[in-house]
Amino acid sequence: MGNSPLRDYDRLIQITVLGKTFQVPENNTCLRAFQYLSPENISYGRFCWNQDCQQCRMTVTVASRPDVPAREVLACKVIVAEGMQITGMSEELRYCLMGSGLPPGPRPPYD
Ligand code: FES
Repeated sequence: MGNSPLRDYDRLIQITVLGKTFQVPENNTCLRAFQYLSPENISYGRFCWNQDCQQCRMTVTVASRPDVPAREVLACKVIVAEGMQITGMSEELRYCLMGSGLPPGPRPPYD
């Protein structure tokens, strides 16, 4: 895949982010999938990419497992799954994904 930061993948899978449906590369973390959707904004976001900063927190459910309650996970750790539904996310993620068709969120504070 050349210089792409994405892991190798054969197909795109469907996920839902705050009610909007996207096709993203399988076998990649959610944060990489978000980078696929919004390359510049995610790349310049304030993310450590290694589970330290907590700026990539999000809430997920899986459509095929309605019995499993929503859980809070790190986008830089969790691998995308077909039917994943992301129902909540940090202000930093939301801000960085604005250009991908999601409604705008508040600008995160600088601290
Ligand atoms: S990007 Fe820092 S914890 Fe996920």
